[in-house]
Amino acid sequence: MIASLRGRLYTGLAILTVGMALAAGYLAYRWAFDEAIELQDAILLQVGSLAASNHLSTTLPSEGNIDGEAQVLIEEIRPGAAADARGNPASQLPSDLPDGFQTVMRGGTQWRILVRTRSDGSRVAVGQPTANRDEVAQDSALRTIVPLGVLIPCLMVLIAVVVDRSLRPLSRLARHLDAKQTDHLEKLPTSAIPTELLPFVASINRLLERIAMMFDKQRRFVADAAHELRTPITALVVQAENLDHANLSQDGRERLSSLKTGIRRTGHLLEQLLALARYDNGTSADGPQTEFGQILKEVVADLLPAARDKSVDLGFVRIVSVSVRLEPVALTVLARNLLDNALRHTPAGGQVDVSLFAENEFVVFRVDDTGSGIPDADLDRIFEPFFRGSRSQGEGTGLGLSIARRIVDRCHGSIRLQNKPSAEGPGLRATVRFPLK
Ligand SMILES: Nc1ncnc2c1ncn2[C@@H]1O[C@H](COP(=O)(O)OP(=O)(O)OP(=O)(O)O)[C@@H](O)[C@H]1O
Ligand SMILES: [Mg+2]
Repeated sequence: MIASLRGRLYTGLAILTVGMALAAGYLAYRWAFDEAIELQDAILLQVGSLAASNHLSTTLPSEGNIDGEAQVLIEEIRPGAAADARGNPASQLPSDLPDGFQTVMRGGTQWRILVRTRSDGSRVAVGQPTANRDEVAQDSALRTIVPLGVLIPCLMVLIAVVVDRSLRPLSRLARHLDAKQTDHLEKLPTSAIPTELLPFVASINRLLERIAMMFDKQRRFVADAAHELRTPITALVVQAENLDHANLSQDGRERLSSLKTGIRRTGHLLEQLLALARYDNGTSADGPQTEFGQILKEVVADLLPAARDKSVDLGFVRIVSVSVRLEPVALTVLARNLLDNALRHTPAGGQVDVSLFAENEFVVFRVDDTGSGIPDADLDRIFEPFFRGSRSQGEGTGLGLSIARRIVDRCHGSIRLQNKPSAEGPGLRATVRFPLK
C-alpha cells in the first residue's frame, strides 16, 4: 500500500492510462488490420471482374512506386491441373477450385485467391500471397497505434504535473500548520482552499478553538490562584515586619531574616505569575500608543540605586522619544525584566548600556551588559517559562523572559538574546524590535 496520496493517485492513474492505452491500441490494431484485409479483398474483387471480362492473364504491371508486395497475380485455370500430395503444385492452380475467395497453397506459399468462371466456361483466378497481404495490413495497422505510443508517455508526464499541482494546497496547509507556534492558535485561513479540504480545515479550526479555550481556562486558573495568594502573602509580610520590633534573640533574628527572604521570593513569584497570565492572551493590535522613552527613563532611575550598590555603571547610550503600541504597564514590566537580568548578571565594575532608537521600520530597544552571557546550549530554551539556564545567579523564577516575550508578541514585535561577539568582550545583548506605526 502506497502511503502518499500523490503516489497513490499517480500510480492509479498511470495504471489506468497504460491499461486503457493497451486496450485501445489492441482494438485499433485489430480494426485497422481487418480493414486493410477487407480493402485488399475488394481490390481482388475488382481485378477479378476485370480479368473475367477481358481475358487478362499476367501479373498486373508495376508502374511508378506501387509496392511490390501489393501486386496482384492473374492466372487462367486450365482443366486437368491438380495439387500434388503435399498441396504443392509446380505452378498450376487445381482446376477443381470452386468460385469465390479461398486460401490455397501454391509454389510453397499460401495465396489468397478469387476464382471467377467466365460465360464461355473458362476460369480465371486472381490472387496475392497471404504473407504480402498480411504485411501490408500489419504496416497500416501499426501506423494507427504509433501516435498512441508517443502520446502515452506525454500523458504520464502531464498526469504527474496535474497531480502535483492539485495536491499543492495540501502541502501549503501542512506548511502553514507547521509554521504555527504552539502559543499562536489563530484559525487556519479558509480562502483559496479546495472544497474537499474545507471540512478538514474546519475540524482543525474547531480543534484549535478548543485548545485555545483550554489554554484560556488554564491561564485564568493560574491568574486566579496567584491573585488569591496575594492577600495571605501580604499579611505574612506585615506579620514579619511586626516581628522586627519584637524582642528577639540573635538566632531568632537570623531565622526571621531567612523567613523574610522566603516571603519576598514567594511574593516575586506571584507577581511574575500574575504578569505572565496577564500578558499571555495573544496579540492586541489596537493597544494605545505609549511614549516609551519616558517610561524607560523612569525604570532606569528606579534601578540606579541598586546599580550603584553593585558598582555597576547603568546608563543610556542613546535614547529618543518614540511611541510603541503597548500599555504603559506592559512596557514598564518589559524594561524592568531585561534591565533586572542585566544588572543581576553583571559583576561589580561592569557596565549596562541601554539604547532606544528608531531603525528602518522598527523601534529598537537594546540592553548590553558585561556579564557572563548565556551558554549557547541554553539560548534555545531561554524563553521557556521557569527555565533558568545552567548559569543562573541569585533569586529568580525563570519567568522574566517568558513575560518579556509575551509582551513583545502582543504588538507583533520580536525579542532576541545573543552573546556579544568575542571582540567586544563577554556579555549579553538583548534586542527588542517593535513595528514602527
Ligand atoms: N543578561 C543576562 N546575562 C546572563 N544570563 C542571563 C541574562 N538574562 C537572563 N539570563 C539567564 O536567563 C535565565 C532566565 O531569565 P529570566 O529573566 O526568564 O528568569 P530569572 O531572571 O531567572 O527570573 P525572574 O526574571 O523571574 O526574576 C536566567 O536565570 C539567567 O540564567
Ligand atoms: Mg529575570
